[in-house]
This record gives sequence, C-alpha cells and structure tokens, in this order.
Amino acid sequence: LPLEEGWAIRLRKYQGFWFPQQILPGSMAMQQNFKARPDDVFVLSHPKSGTTWLKALTYAIVTRTKYPFDRHPLLSQNPHECVPLMDRSYSTGQDSEIEAMPSPRILNSHLPYSLLPHSIKSLDCQLIYVCRDPKDVLVSRWFFNNRMRSEGMEPIPFTKAFEMFCEGNSPYGPLWEHVLEYWEESQRRPDKVLFLKYEEMLEEPMRIVKRLAQFVGCPFTPEEEKEGVVEEVVKLCSFDKMKSLEVNISGKLRPEFVTNDAFFRKGGAGDWRNHMDPEMARKLDRVTEQKLEGSGLTLNAVG
Ligand code: A3P
Repeated sequence: LPLEEGWAIRLRKYQGFWFPQQILPGSMAMQQNFKARPDDVFVLSHPKSGTTWLKALTYAIVTRTKYPFDRHPLLSQNPHECVPLMDRSYSTGQDSEIEAMPSPRILNSHLPYSLLPHSIKSLDCQLIYVCRDPKDVLVSRWFFNNRMRSEGMEPIPFTKAFEMFCEGNSPYGPLWEHVLEYWEESQRRPDKVLFLKYEEMLEEPMRIVKRLAQFVGCPFTPEEEKEGVVEEVVKLCSFDKMKSLEVNISGKLRPEFVTNDAFFRKGGAGDWRNHMDPEMARKLDRVTEQKLEGSGLTLNAVG
C-alpha cells in the first residue's frame, strides 16, 4: 500500500508476519547471528501491548539492589534505553552494544516465537511475554501511527486502521498468531515462558511484580516485602510517574523519531470504547474468538 493509504511505516510480509520494512533485515540478521547467554532475560511482545511498562518493571526488579529508588536510571532514561529492542539494534548496526552489555542482560524483541534466534531456545532462556485486549492494541497503534506520520500527511481514518488490523495487516501482525505462538509455548514450558496480560498487570501490579521477580530468579525477601520494596518498584514504573519524567516528556530515542511521550499516552484498559462503535467492537471480538478458539486463551477484556 502507498504510505498515504496505510500505516505510517511500510510493511513486508515474512514467514507469515508483517514486519516494518526498515527493521526486517535487522530482524533477519539477529535471527541468524544473535548469541544468547544462559542468564539473558527476554521481554517479548506484539507492539502496543504494554512493552514499555514490562521493560521498566523487569529492569527495576533486577537492578533493585544496585540503585536506590530516588536515583534510579529509570528516572533519567526511557525504559527503551535500559532494555534495548534488539530488532532495532541489529537494523542500525548497534548490535555490538548488545554484545557488550554486562550479564545478566534484559533484552527486548517483537519477533514471534517461531522466528526467535535459535540460541535463545537452545539455552532455555527465561522469556516474558505480554499481551493485551486487541481492541486496545489497535487504538494504541492508531494513535502511535498518527504520531509517526511525517509532517503534512493526514492521519489514516480509524475505520481504515480497523480494517487492516482485522485482516492481520499491522506491524508484527497478525496479532492473534503472535500471541498464540507464545501462549502455546507458555503452556508447554511454564517455567521458561511467563505469559502476562496487560489487564491483569493493571489490576494486580503487586502480585505481578512478585511473580516477575520469582520468574527471573530474584524473588523478594520477606525483609524487602516488609520494607515496601515491591511497592517502590510498582510506584517507580507506574504510568503517572513515568509519564511525568522529563526524559519521557521531551526526550527522544533517536533524533528523527517521535518524542518519548508517544509511549505514554493514556495507559489503561478500555479506551476502545471512545473510538469504536459497538458493532466494530463486536466484529473485532468475533475475530479474536475465532482465532483463539480451542486454545484456552481469552483476550477480550470483559465489560
Ligand atoms: P495506550 O496507547 O492505550 O495509552 P507498548 O509499550 O507496547 O508500545 O504499549 C504502549 C501502551 O502501554 C500505551 O497504551 C501506553 O500508554 C501504555 N503504557 C506505557 N507505559 C505504561 C505504564 N508505566 N503503565 C501502564 N501503561 C503504560
């Protein structure tokens, strides 16, 4: 599709998924060349599902004894700087920075499970995946897409984005196949693949933070729990806190890119109600139900 009629970034289909054209060569290079370490932790997601938040939480958990909470790197760096998106590093020639990172590394990718580098699987690394109600993923994508458009370009109508998304044509789509691959793997290897939902993170952040800490091998001690360290992690990474930081207001990951505030838009569940009529919502819910049928997974947030 010409850019004026589709997403702000050009997509190309590879092995069943739509990749941003600019990133695809990097993703393929990473698939071939990335060498995992046994203690690497991977944050994985379909974009707009809560990646930024999960990166911040995982990073804050793993580094909690290294930095005091009032002088934490997350106060002056965007979570995407602390936990790099490998797919991009490999597409911009910054893969040596990934190799130079000290262990234990926390790394991020949007690759579907079937395309993850072999070494990640053969070393049995810990994988954390987050997913979200597809209706909210779409709304979040639409806003992000509008921010990414070059000056003078009209935003695509929401109805157009809706159609493309339902057909699976969106960055890293089809969403359902992406989610299902990780879901199935988490059912096979629950001790190695932690499958989270954005909505349950919103509902019970403390429980999720404790679960995450346990999963990455650094559970909170009873003393830490008594001292309120779990609360500190939740507070540091909360939407309001992160959104209020100077680095996340005016900072940029790359000069030509959107400002970091684009990653902190509304931060909740159910914004789809403000953008979809009931018929659209029902249609997208039906697509989701059909795609997930028999998997034991549900994604449509109730209500
Ligand atoms: P909305 O656009 O619905 O507000 P990703 O990080 O995968 O790109 O997902 C972005 C979505 O996560 C955005 O959703 C954003 O506002 C939300 N988000 C970012 N940081 C968050 C945080 N600390 N807590 C809760 N949601 C957050």
